[in-house]
Amino acid sequence: MEKLVVVDNLWTGLRENLAHIQDPRLTFVEADAERFSSDFQFDEIIHFASPASPPWYMREPVRTISANLGGALNLLNLLKPKGRFSFASTSEVYGDPLVSPQPESYRGSVDCTGPRSSYDESKRCTESLLFESHRTTGIDVRIVRLFNVYGPRTRPDDGRAVSNFLSQALTHGELTVYGDGSQGRSWGYVDDIVEALSRYFWRDELTYVGPLNIGNDREISVIDVARYIEKLVPGTRIKFCPPVPQDPTNRRPDLTLCRKVLPGWEANVSYEDGVRMTLEWFRDKVGQGASTDAPSPVFDTRLAAPV
Ligand SMILES: NC(=O)c1ccc[n+]([C@@H]2O[C@H](COP(=O)([O-])OP(=O)(O)OC[C@H]3O[C@@H](n4cnc5c(N)ncnc54)[C@H](O)[C@@H]3O)[C@@H](O)[C@H]2O)c1
Repeated sequence: MEKLVVVDNLWTGLRENLAHIQDPRLTFVEADAERFSSDFQFDEIIHFASPASPPWYMREPVRTISANLGGALNLLNLLKPKGRFSFASTSEVYGDPLVSPQPESYRGSVDCTGPRSSYDESKRCTESLLFESHRTTGIDVRIVRLFNVYGPRTRPDDGRAVSNFLSQALTHGELTVYGDGSQGRSWGYVDDIVEALSRYFWRDELTYVGPLNIGNDREISVIDVARYIEKLVPGTRIKFCPPVPQDPTNRRPDLTLCRKVLPGWEANVSYEDGVRMTLEWFRDKVGQGASTDAPSPVFDTRLAAPV
């Protein structure tokens, strides 16, 4: 029988998110990806272990680097020779991009000592580790660069824009927009993104080796998201707060390559439908008393300030 082992240390994940899965092949192990050990060698490893929400990764940057890079270094030892290693990288590798939309060939505009660097740079370094491992040992590497995925099962205290707005709308009603809200993002509904991941990770005949952008290429500003949620949930209002240091001004995937590698795949769920479905899930969770307070990050303004 095939075996599927899910390794998660429950840093930002919730055990209850797997409660509905009853599959005799699946084992859950509560452990750090960078320390997990096993007597088995695996045919395939999918490395998604990392917080993705800025307040969470900024609060524990060393742990974030360890999850991504340490996790990949450790897990590579558990892969069979010529096995397949898939990794969730991010649009954050493009930093605050100077070109739009961003193709995979764009090398990005990233600050390697900035407040987001533990996340951006550990993703970039892990990409390097995996592509170099492919080159030197012939493992099969599948790396996706995801753009702002949202949807049900996000924790209500996650702190990213959509989940933040929904949690706020359902509690005190004040939607906090950082800066003027003109930052553009490309919001990908989770079901669309998971469909793309399964097509890419589990496709056997593939000649393309390289990172692949996956997302919805309809860019919508943060303020438009807030206004949409303000309309959906009566009694909410928008509050403007000082900008977050080095918050990227824009993000939009160039999907030319994605459409060649995954013909027929498109992000079909409109932003409006996706937010409505996510709102229903949040209504249940917040109604059951889930915490909605994301951690507050600690910024070193000396590093973030221009010199
Ligand atoms: N959601 C997005 O918009 C987005 C965008 C780009 C990349 N990604 C990447 O996709 C992956 C999943 O993101 P998500 O949005 O589901 O985030 P999430 O925080 O909801 O899930 C991350 C999971 O990793 C686990 N984890 C963290 N560190 C770990 C460690 N050291 N060992 C074992 N488990 C660990 C957490 O407990 C959690 O279950 C991450 O690698 C993230 O960087 C997500």
